[in-house]
Amino acid sequence: MTHPTPDQGRGDHAAPVIRLQSVQKSFALPNGEVFDAVQSLSLDIQQGDVFGLIGKSGAGKSTLLRLINLLERPDAGQVFVGGRDLTTLSRSELRDTRQNIGMIFQQFNLLQNATVFDNVAFPLKIHGRHSKAEIDARVRECLALVGLVEKIDTYPAQLSGGQKQRVAIARALAPRPQVLLCDEPTSALDSETTRSLLETLRDINQKIGVTIVIVTHELSVVEVLCRNVAILEKGRLVEQFAVDAAGAAERKTALGREIDELVRRREREARESRSAQSPAQFGAQELAYV
Ligand SMILES: Nc1ncnc2c1ncn2[C@@H]1O[C@H](COP(=O)(O)OP(=O)(O)OP(=O)(O)O)[C@@H](O)[C@H]1O
Ligand SMILES: [Mg+2]
Repeated sequence: MTHPTPDQGRGDHAAPVIRLQSVQKSFALPNGEVFDAVQSLSLDIQQGDVFGLIGKSGAGKSTLLRLINLLERPDAGQVFVGGRDLTTLSRSELRDTRQNIGMIFQQFNLLQNATVFDNVAFPLKIHGRHSKAEIDARVRECLALVGLVEKIDTYPAQLSGGQKQRVAIARALAPRPQVLLCDEPTSALDSETTRSLLETLRDINQKIGVTIVIVTHELSVVEVLCRNVAILEKGRLVEQFAVDAAGAAERKTALGREIDELVRRREREARESRSAQSPAQFGAQELAYV
């Protein structure tokens, strides 16, 4: 039997790079009860998107993200990435397919006893398919993408939190994945470092077109970085919309309304700062220089 590909029978223009179809994930609790962390959830994410997943603590965001690379195996439903149903793959096929899905975490998860070079080279070396020269070139390329080439011989302990996360991003990108999963990547960082890391992620998305799925509890991260956002409540997807379409529709959730409010405020501020700089505000002398 062949498995249906994601675009069959739906008439989509472009098949989504990620399609979750009625995925379900429960955990057995110590008291013997079963907890439904993700409940019959379907979601499409298009190639090249920057997609935010938000919701309260315990809503199932991390579980949902981990279902996309099968770090959690769904109890029911299907997970398509790049057109392949991951739930049907053998262990070794899954290992190969995971090269297509990079992941970064709140706590960076770097190898402490390895240099920056060796951390980024790690996913390339374990597959043994690349020559030393290829690995060297790819590591440098990825470190350039995150602006850290000069730290290539440094150990993680010598880096700031923001720099560690950049190394983690470079490592995740090394195998040229189509998808980058990010679980609260800026939660351990101060606001200045967060801003610059978000700029780097946006840059990377634009330069290499990698699809970014980001779990965050910071609405400003959604507002600054994401094109689309989904809101999770108790393991269910309750709302999904394009971030720049603030005010286009009534939002169902308080979080949805807060994001709209944030987007509108930023638009207002941008308008005000533009009009404050308009020539009408200048005197004749300044105008001569405009
Ligand atoms: N391995 C596990 N065993 C038992 N319960 C789990 C396991 N993993 C997650 N859960 C439970 O599933 C629910 C969803 O967890 P998840 O980590 O996905 O939430 P989250 O939305 O990422 O929350 P947070 O914002 O706090 O990170 C929680 O109630 C959690 O306790
Ligand atoms: Mg989480």
